[in-house]
Amino acid sequence: MAAFGDGVGEVLLDEAAIRTEVARLGVQISADYAGKSLHLVGVLKGSAVFLADLLRALTIPATVDFISIVPYGQVTASGVVRIRKDLDEPLEGKDVLVVEGICASGLSLSYLLRNFETRRPASLRTCAFVAKRCERPADVTLHYFGREIPDVFVVGYGLDVQEQYRNLPYIARLA
Ligand code: IMP
Ligand code: MG
Repeated sequence: MAAFGDGVGEVLLDEAAIRTEVARLGVQISADYAGKSLHLVGVLKGSAVFLADLLRALTIPATVDFISIVPYGQVTASGVVRIRKDLDEPLEGKDVLVVEGICASGLSLSYLLRNFETRRPASLRTCAFVAKRCERPADVTLHYFGREIPDVFVVGYGLDVQEQYRNLPYIARLA
């Protein structure tokens, strides 16, 4: 049986760095939405660990919903994805923050933003804990992110490879 952390390489964000970034995002987002209530939409499953921490770092009223999407085969250049589990609640009139664990090509976010826009939220912004340094579609703005990282495959803090490593408390490259 593989040991915890086996196959994991260089640590890019350790637990202390993660705590610092989450706290900073909590302060910034709470200030930006002061006087409002925020509706967080987590993109399953990679956002789950980050969303749980971010939620507790917010000092404004907040509600939570989740969506699960599956790319058709590989994510295609057109960003065509399928919804596996849709939101439970309508977005109409809400201040919505889409929360992802990691933003790479931005194709998932691009699709989600176009889809959510049709549900008439009061506002719609995006947050990813980790942003890869790579090209993204022009219509995708990351309003909030924790850290920018090189365009390498990472695991941990909710991020997986074949469903493994989500429970690592740090973010690391695969060895
Ligand atoms: P996108 O390329 O921005 O559409 O990224 C879509 C999804 O791919 C993310 O939400 C993750 O589920 C997954 N992903 C992209 N890069 C990584 C990585 O380095 N590690 C783990 N998952 C990743
Ligand atoms: Mg994955």
